[in-house]
Amino acid sequence: MNIAVIGSGGRENSICFKLKQSKQINKIFCIPGNAGTSIMAENINIDVLNFESISDFLRNNNVKIVFVGPEVPLVQGIKDYLEKKDFFVFGPSKAASRLEKSKSFTKQLCKKYKIPTAQYKSFSSMKGVKDYIKKMNTPIVIKADGLASGKGVSICNNKTMALQKCKEINQGKFKSSKKFVIEEFLSGEEVSYFILSDGINYKFFGSAQDHKRIGEGDTGPNTGGMGAYSPSNIITNKVENKIKKEIIEPTLKGLKKLGCPFVGILYAGLIIKNNQPKLIEYNIRLGDPECQVLMMRLKTDLLKIILACKKKQINKIAINWSDKKAITIVASSKGYPNKQSKISEIKNTEKILLNANQYLFHASTFKKNNKIFSSGGRVLNATALNKNFKSARNICINMLKKINWKDKYFRRDIGWRVISN
Ligand code: AMP
Ligand code: GLY
Repeated sequence: MNIAVIGSGGRENSICFKLKQSKQINKIFCIPGNAGTSIMAENINIDVLNFESISDFLRNNNVKIVFVGPEVPLVQGIKDYLEKKDFFVFGPSKAASRLEKSKSFTKQLCKKYKIPTAQYKSFSSMKGVKDYIKKMNTPIVIKADGLASGKGVSICNNKTMALQKCKEINQGKFKSSKKFVIEEFLSGEEVSYFILSDGINYKFFGSAQDHKRIGEGDTGPNTGGMGAYSPSNIITNKVENKIKKEIIEPTLKGLKKLGCPFVGILYAGLIIKNNQPKLIEYNIRLGDPECQVLMMRLKTDLLKIILACKKKQINKIAINWSDKKAITIVASSKGYPNKQSKISEIKNTEKILLNANQYLFHASTFKKNNKIFSSGGRVLNATALNKNFKSARNICINMLKKINWKDKYFRRDIGWRVISN
């Protein structure tokens, strides 16, 4: 069987890595992929939003199943488009993708089903904003309503800044929408909780915690994620029960009622405090870099899971996870997330031992004349599975130390909450 993976990040490299372990797979295509995916898949240079070209390619290469990594093609309806042409897309429909596309859609669903989340109000103009902010405690969270590649959220320590951020969004800072949400700040520990749904049933699909800030000690600006570990150690049975009953189940029920049952992986971003989970946001896909640690821990054949989902029979399979601990450390180019970095060569990747328990996933890399180059941003993800978090982290650090790349930057404290030095 042939399969296509859409995307070009570390997440998609780890999905290809896992799919490669499946005996039933003949060939993996990655659209468009990176230097890392080219080791285990054939990279196909098609724009992920050019659904017509993707469809032609799939038909000509006998591919029936498509795994979509990033949110943008899903939000723009890749599932709806390809499934009309008889391909199976592992991911949600355009209508179900509103959970990530629109913060106000999700907030309305939360209100209707009493899903615990931060107090909020949506605005489409500046009318009433000043008065609303006046009544709030600081910090205040301001969010662009549409997709903003993780840059749409500001945590404002004072009211002047909060007002300023609202103005910026309303004046068109983000192309996706001028609408915004003003929301209460939730304190507590953040967890990424994943479930898999086939539209009828759902199953737990792993937990992880990521480090969003650029600097050690979780300082500095927010990024797409500088590292992650799995499993999370704060999800007790009691907390998990609450996550399922108070958050996941009403959401899936709500989507079914709206006529758009969720198929694929749903990622709940949660804040947990005093054993009470609250929803910060939904993503309609695997997290990056959370996916990298989940793929290391997943014992069940990923293709088998996808096929069970296609048949709407995930209730008939067991999804097994390694009891070992996984860590991934992201190496970004120096200056990220503020400065645009230039293309630079990455040397020595061949010196790194790669196996099922330790792997160097690629994100923004490409190959030219048999050399590997960084194109900036988040570039490599050293990932390891080991008996404990400390030994897994040491393996990751040693992998990254061997890389000879002048623009290399990475955090050495990933997983500090679960590692005592
Ligand atoms: P989002 O794009 O909604 O995931 O937000 C990005 C990050 O901002 C989250 O992962 C949190 O770390 C933080 N964040 C978002 N909303 C809140 C909130 N209401 N309270 C505290 N932190 C938040
Ligand atoms: N690591 C956060 C995300 O994938 O959205």
